[in-house]
Amino acid sequence: MCGIVGYTGRRQAAPILLDSLSRLEYRGYDSAGLAVRNGTALAEVVKATGKLYHLADKTDQGRALAGCCGIGHTRWATHGDPSVVNAHPHVSGNCSGSGSGAVESDVVGVHNGIIENYTELKDKLLRHGYAFYSDTDTEVAVKLVDYYYKKYKIGPVDAITRTMVRIRGSYALALMFKDYPDEIFAARKDSPMIIGTGEEESFLASDVPAILKYTRQVYYIGNLQVARVSPGKVAFFDLNGDENTIPLTEITWDAAAAEKGGYEHFMLKEIHEQPAAVRDTLNSIVKDGKIDLSGTGLTEETVRSVSKIDIVACGSAWHVGMAAQYVIEDLAGIPVRVELASEYRYRKIPMAEKTLVIVISQSGETADSLAALRVAKERGAETLAIVNVIGSTIAREADHVLYTLAGPEIAVATTKAYSAQLIATDVLAVYLALARGTVAEEEAAALLAELAEIPAKIERILEEKARLQWFSSKIANTHDIFFIGRGLDYAISLEGSLKMKEISYIHSEAYAAGELKHGTISLIENNTLVIGVLTQKELYEKTVSNMMECRSRGGYLMGITTNGNFSVEDSVNFTVYIPKSDEHFMASLAVVPLQLLAYYTSVNRGLDVDKPRNLAKSVTVE
Ligand code: G6P
Repeated sequence: MCGIVGYTGRRQAAPILLDSLSRLEYRGYDSAGLAVRNGTALAEVVKATGKLYHLADKTDQGRALAGCCGIGHTRWATHGDPSVVNAHPHVSGNCSGSGSGAVESDVVGVHNGIIENYTELKDKLLRHGYAFYSDTDTEVAVKLVDYYYKKYKIGPVDAITRTMVRIRGSYALALMFKDYPDEIFAARKDSPMIIGTGEEESFLASDVPAILKYTRQVYYIGNLQVARVSPGKVAFFDLNGDENTIPLTEITWDAAAAEKGGYEHFMLKEIHEQPAAVRDTLNSIVKDGKIDLSGTGLTEETVRSVSKIDIVACGSAWHVGMAAQYVIEDLAGIPVRVELASEYRYRKIPMAEKTLVIVISQSGETADSLAALRVAKERGAETLAIVNVIGSTIAREADHVLYTLAGPEIAVATTKAYSAQLIATDVLAVYLALARGTVAEEEAAALLAELAEIPAKIERILEEKARLQWFSSKIANTHDIFFIGRGLDYAISLEGSLKMKEISYIHSEAYAAGELKHGTISLIENNTLVIGVLTQKELYEKTVSNMMECRSRGGYLMGITTNGNFSVEDSVNFTVYIPKSDEHFMASLAVVPLQLLAYYTSVNRGLDVDKPRNLAKSVTVE
């Protein structure tokens, strides 16, 4: 959560920092701030609440801040409300007010993450004469660095490592010291951060797209490492203060992939990129009609001997797990348990021998998913990460990685990464089934042929989007929506409901259709919208019956079903037909109209589709 950036070089820092922050706003947009140094002058700090454009306005697009070295931040509030006082950067000086202006301060810093023991550290600092102007844990971290810096007079790197030893929690920190005018010092533990270099300039950011416009030469700073960043040069240190070497990585993907490309919103663009995301992911693991997972390092032996699979994830990635559960159990006959990462990490689940733990994550940085991965490894499980962001922490720490090739995803509500994850788990299910002999070669070939057709079928659904746009205008003022389905259709309902609520702010719930009558049906009133997902032949009539129970109580019905397979038109008010595929893979198709419905509903309600309130794309706090 939160996005941090830094720049030191020959150019004016503030416009570059603002530009980089604009690409990180998906990480939080409660407030934003900059601190810029002009040679030996004091750091000038400017902060503003709300979205980044307020800060840009306040600083005349950065022109009002002179200086070639600076740090910036966009905030998703954890400790302290989203006010100017709590906005970053924070300063070490005992200043009154909000810590902005030309602040007399030895250390200025921005932070992403959570300092768990900040109250204890704050008490210690209070005892040593420090005063605090904000409610943030970040101010404590900055002042603790200042405390060690002055107490031991040992220089920034050592002051930071001493601080790191005292801090519990996760963080990416970028700090400027008054005595080091053109340098930025950075440290990270369990929160992402990269450092880029160019001709006599260096950049720092929470992720690659933020600086891609400026450089493709990037260092992934390691966990518990400190970096000393000067123009065109970076040095890395471990906790003992010893210098480390980190390889420089060249980023090869296209910066344009992270731009809107003519679409009104990133979400709509990303919905349309799903055929490509699915096709690219598929082509990377199915070659000449054969599954090739050699890139993951998973051996046949592991795959054959797996006795149980735990899938662990958050949000939409958890919904992918819910869908994958049905597919893997049905095709490969392996028991699958799907757990929310935030629960899994604290549960004492007995780990069966030969358990494969699969962590699914777009960002590869979600704090709970990362913690769950570590717990799984500690308990001796073999781990596989299905991750979109190359080089992310989860990708680096898992035993095996299967990369989805969705490209950078910017809209907070995931679409293309979800679809790429689904296809990856489908291929994995076929692979497991083949290895264990639960499907024959010909059957597997037929399944892979079906998967190969998914991208074209998604394209066909996208061509029909005008109907969903029209229907969304009818439902834009609805108060409650229920998504129901059974089996795999239930997993799809979960994702449809989340998409709807997160960007339209309409209350919605997903229910296993058969469970509705055990309480939730009491919420059905005249015109309550009930959306039934009906892609599974064996369960179709059962779910339709549950929809009828809702209609009898005044429910207004929408159904999603397959072309020519079933006809629901007589029973429901609005039907969406999608192409047929093997039933195991229907989630990839049925989710698309639900994404479009959520998207158009949000647009019709005049909301900020790409940056819904209170949310962030990458949740790097617990
Ligand atoms: C946030 C996003 C969701 C995402 C979830 C997990 O809540 O808004 O779209 O599914 O995090 O993120 P991950 O990066 O681990 O897939």
